[in-house]
Amino acid sequence: MPIPEEFIQELKSRCDIAEVVSSYVTLKKAGRGLVGLCPFHNEKSPSFSVSPENGFFHCFGCGVGGDVISFIKRIENLDYVEAVKLLAQRAGMTVPEDNRHEGMAALKTRIYEANREAARFFHRQLYAPGGKEALAYLRKRRLTEKTIIHFGLGYSPGSRFELVNHLRSKGFSPSEMVQANLASLSRNGNPFDRFSDRVMFPIIDLRGNVIGFGGRIMSDIKPKYLNTAETPVFNKSRNLFALQFAKNKAKGRLILVEGYMDVIALHQAGFENTVATLGTALTQEQATIIKRYCDEVVLCYDADEAGQKATARAIDILRPTGLKLKILTVPDGKDPDEFIKAHGDQGPARFRRLLENSGNDVEFRLRKLRSRFNTEITEQRVAFLTEAAKLTATLENTIEQDVYISRLSEELNVEKNAIRQMVRKYSRYQNREYARKEQREIQRKISARDDRINTEKTFHLRAANAEEALLALMLTNADVAASVCPALSPERFMTSFNRKVYEVIRERIGRGADCTLMNISGVFSDQEMNAIAGMLASHPREPDPPAAAREYIQVLEDESQMLTPEQIVAADDQTLMEQLQKMKEKKK
Ligand code: UTP
Ligand code: MN
Repeated sequence: MPIPEEFIQELKSRCDIAEVVSSYVTLKKAGRGLVGLCPFHNEKSPSFSVSPENGFFHCFGCGVGGDVISFIKRIENLDYVEAVKLLAQRAGMTVPEDNRHEGMAALKTRIYEANREAARFFHRQLYAPGGKEALAYLRKRRLTEKTIIHFGLGYSPGSRFELVNHLRSKGFSPSEMVQANLASLSRNGNPFDRFSDRVMFPIIDLRGNVIGFGGRIMSDIKPKYLNTAETPVFNKSRNLFALQFAKNKAKGRLILVEGYMDVIALHQAGFENTVATLGTALTQEQATIIKRYCDEVVLCYDADEAGQKATARAIDILRPTGLKLKILTVPDGKDPDEFIKAHGDQGPARFRRLLENSGNDVEFRLRKLRSRFNTEITEQRVAFLTEAAKLTATLENTIEQDVYISRLSEELNVEKNAIRQMVRKYSRYQNREYARKEQREIQRKISARDDRINTEKTFHLRAANAEEALLALMLTNADVAASVCPALSPERFMTSFNRKVYEVIRERIGRGADCTLMNISGVFSDQEMNAIAGMLASHPREPDPPAAAREYIQVLEDESQMLTPEQIVAADDQTLMEQLQKMKEKKK
């Protein structure tokens, strides 16, 4: 049984969309609604709008939109039932019991439970006789008892059946173990432990669920780390190791490192604002998440070549988010964990000093750039200067720009003013380009060609626009909806998506049910809701709704008289003449 509609309605009426969105996005008043920077894509000028009156949000930049539930689904990366639960919690309501154990939501719950049970089991093993070596290993790596407990570290026995047996005794089925990626199936279909003889690092999401594990081998066998593969609850590209701790300690700044051990060593040393990716390169999604918790990221990747390449890639991904970037390079080719350990008691203080002296990303990139040119040769000096000026221009703060301008001037023995002019020129150019790019994106999204939901829109542009304006009107004005529905047949709609929306509205009005964007969200997919919220957002309130409705209906009447391109091709002369006549009249 799905969650009852009355419950959803009650929930939505209790969760003010402006209030919910405000806990993620800074909103400013604009007309009847609110606007802010879209949390779902990177932008500098706000194209994200919220309409508290109609209970929906919409981004003109990236096209996403919907009601308060769609917002939570997207921003918290949850499915429908989970989003409802989260909102219910917020509103102090209890989701009707029997819906909890259904389909995907039920499976996810089971996987969370299996993972939690496994984490407890691994942790206990660390203190069992079999875990002696693993415990010694962690101690050798200078982890304190407190740290081991704080991170819930553990040990997976080498037998290949102990976890499976334990989970079975706790009522988990082989299928659940396999779907949690805690077990694999042998050739004759028996489950066996996936992690064997490894030190275990549980990965925990922001709500405290154990979503997966990283397991480190204690010898030289490859792979060094084995990680949980994608499962219904584990997505490597949307989570960060230790963010559940770091988000509360960020104070505007997060440190991003490569490895689990680097995170743990830094937390132990007092840098609890450290996170790591989960064995993969930084993704766009992770950058968006990071942006939610800080304004500045310190990239502290390994000093080796791979680490430097990863740094350059991470800069490219983080820059467009508008986050301030600092690059911390650990000396002597060490990683942060090794560095801290190598300096014993002095480790934390030394690391703090590195942190304070870390340069921004422009510095890092200038150094890389510099190594590509021989500045003794005039042409190369000019080429370097041009590239360096472009880079310096990406700094938003002109005072900061001047620091680099001075440095370049000294280094290359070139007039400071000449470099400054160059930098300012590129600055202006880049700002203009950026604004243009955002504008183009918006245009592209709004234009019919990009409409993947209503694919027929291109062929019936005028009709489709009128349909959308009419639907927006009906969803925001109950009286108009009530008067239009009996009079207008769904056949008048030329594009089938809009017709479907109309039919849903009509059906609800017919049985006296309320009909706003909020009430119809159950019927449509996320993408469809994006499109419908888009219609509402692009059609501001009409001063005279009934008159506007009549006008749109008239357009639909006119357009339905027109022949389609296919009909024109197939038509006889007589029909074509009539059609031309109609078009002439319309012009008048
Ligand atoms: P590193 O090889 O730098 O290891 O991998 P590390 O973090 O310094 O680990 P220690 O100190 O030797 O124990 C960095 C990260 O890359 C991922 C892991 O997330 C690791 O923490 N990785 C590495 C894997 O996922 N699999 C591997 O086989 C190796
Ligand atoms: Mn290491």
